[in-house]
Amino acid sequence: MNTIKLLKVKSADEGAEKVLEIIKDELEHNQLHVLGLATGSTMIPIYNKWTESDLDFQNVVTFNLDEYVGVPASSPNSYAFFMEDHLFSKKKFKKTHILNGVAEDLEDECARYESLLQKNPLDIQLLGVGENGHIAFNEPGTAFESVTHVAKLTDSTLNVNSQYFENDEKIPNTALTMGISSITDAKKLIMIAFGEKKRAAITKLLEGKVSIDWPITKLLHHNDVIVITDLDIS
Ligand code: GLP
Repeated sequence: MNTIKLLKVKSADEGAEKVLEIIKDELEHNQLHVLGLATGSTMIPIYNKWTESDLDFQNVVTFNLDEYVGVPASSPNSYAFFMEDHLFSKKKFKKTHILNGVAEDLEDECARYESLLQKNPLDIQLLGVGENGHIAFNEPGTAFESVTHVAKLTDSTLNVNSQYFENDEKIPNTALTMGISSITDAKKLIMIAFGEKKRAAITKLLEGKVSIDWPITKLLHHNDVIVITDLDIS
């Protein structure tokens, strides 16, 4: 059954305000202990709102969705750097977790992360979406049962994401990512999608048909999903 709650907003700023309200409410009701975080341009206005607010995350543990393979945390192209820059340097959390894309043994790193997730079930997972419907780095065709793993990126994702790569560093074609099942295990999912480039993915989701070719559609099997978008679709 499609139980998606659709919140239409006029702008990314209004969308970020909605996310802030949800997070604030969950914190006030003592229901937010473990928070799943995402990266990407969509998340920037959201994290800006948090850092400008009086939200208190000191008792909150975080897990990030994904990280590029071979890109160290010191590189501005890493998701670790993104998180430090936009959020962690400005707000204190109890503990933050992010996959280590330069780990010696990537399979071990994924298993370590998945086991930490199992011990710290996610209360909320923030999600953006790729133009091809990917969530985290779960590309079309990824098994719905997948847990944290090494993923190969599609040409579509490499094209879109390479525009953010700085300093002549080449975008890797592999990443570590929480799996679709690791993500949908979260109690509440908040999907945020702004702009026309996300129309195809959000349309697929709202059409209500689950397909492995559109990883986002797995959200239809979850019973607590909020979609925040500025797109005029229903
Ligand atoms: C990357 C991330 C995804 C994110 C997507 C969208 O591929 N791995 O988690 O949802 O980018 O990014 P943006 O918000 O910049 O459109």
